[in-house]
Amino acid sequence: MQQDMIVILDLGSEQNTLIAREIRALGVYTEIHPHDITKEQLAALPNVKGIILNGGPNRVVDGAEIDASGAVYGSGLPLLAADHPFAAKHAEAKMQQTPQWPEDETARRDMLSAFVFDACQAQKNWNMENFIEDQVALIRRQVGDKKVLLALSGGVDSSVVAALLIKAIGSQLTCVHVNHGLLRKGEPEQVVQVFRNELGANLVYVDAAERFLGKLAGVADPEQKRKIIGAEFIRVFEEEARKLEGIDFLGQGTIYPDIVESGTKTAKMVKSHHNVGGLPEDMQFALVEPLKMLFKDEVRACGVALGLPESMVYRQPFPGPGLGVRCLGAITIDRLEAVRESDAILREEFANAGLQGKVWQYFTVVPDFKSVGVRDNARCFEYPVILRAVNTVDAMTASIEEIDWKLLSKITERITREVKGVNRVLYDLTPKPVGTIEWE
Ligand code: XMP
Repeated sequence: MQQDMIVILDLGSEQNTLIAREIRALGVYTEIHPHDITKEQLAALPNVKGIILNGGPNRVVDGAEIDASGAVYGSGLPLLAADHPFAAKHAEAKMQQTPQWPEDETARRDMLSAFVFDACQAQKNWNMENFIEDQVALIRRQVGDKKVLLALSGGVDSSVVAALLIKAIGSQLTCVHVNHGLLRKGEPEQVVQVFRNELGANLVYVDAAERFLGKLAGVADPEQKRKIIGAEFIRVFEEEARKLEGIDFLGQGTIYPDIVESGTKTAKMVKSHHNVGGLPEDMQFALVEPLKMLFKDEVRACGVALGLPESMVYRQPFPGPGLGVRCLGAITIDRLEAVRESDAILREEFANAGLQGKVWQYFTVVPDFKSVGVRDNARCFEYPVILRAVNTVDAMTASIEEIDWKLLSKITERITREVKGVNRVLYDLTPKPVGTIEWE
């Protein structure tokens, strides 16, 4: 292993992730582990230089105060105990204590820096080159000469996993890209271009657009639409997987927030996460999850280091059901194409205006009603396009991007001229709450 590591033990703190991010920002690798880690598990972690006992308000579990003494005391490693009262009982030579983390960011960084570099003598060697080198070795060790299957959606996480697996095991990987017909303009083509043509991956491209649209025909309820798209996706993927021989592993784009948010032993369960959950029982593969210790910005940095195009690595979030939830009500091909084309115009104009990467999420929605307009001196009865552009930190709340009026006019002019069947453009001014980001 290339990297020194600081272990954070979760003793009920709500700040595990914050502290982990700050240590990584210092250039030192860190992992969060549960309070009941055993001495053996701790000893098995590579290159550990120090341990932070991160106490906090959730330190009582099932009526008992949690402890980590079994694993850490006597390890001989430097310890930093934060908000961790029973630490005082133990006379450890290399123990430092703080009642709580300083609120002030600079003070906190200084404290962490002193612990990590002075007490632990950790090397500043956490970087993407070392991470990739480590993961390539780990993947090769895990997979051996076996085969790996990956559902490649074209999203950031699955794309970066694909690039990493191609580097590690090349032809032992098969990627399956299911085009459900609800992707943005140019997306399936980019997946084929980058992964098959440029990186030489074994890529199975499945054009399932008609199949999905068939299943969705006449279905207007948003939750029903989501369920159909999700279930059909798994069915198509499963069919492709059954055609392949001798697959032992499934690659997954699980990232660190998926794990942290799924609940550590002291935190509440926030969400359970499955990238390709729901495969039948007889199709259980061992998982390869090389990004599971990375935060989102680190995943992007990894993608750039592996040579993926920025347009893929820095793309805005896009829901799994895709344009299906932006073509409101029962999906029809004419309205779906209107969503796709107007979305492409919006993205192009935002890029021209230098807004790409600055606005968190922006897209178009086409409702299932028409309004009267005039085109070429004649009455026309066509669909409107709704523009939405929002900024957020965590998607729980969102504010509206104040788009420049001239830019709005230009986008309106282009959409009403270039997109078939559209005679009106609206801008959604609703923050979240009360509106959600998506319309369905
Ligand atoms: P809402 O509409 O709930 O969206 O404010 C919050 C964020 O989640 C995305 N989103 C989804 N992502 N599957 C996904 O993978 C979905 O069904 C889904 N629905 C919403 C949305 O784009 C926004 O970023």
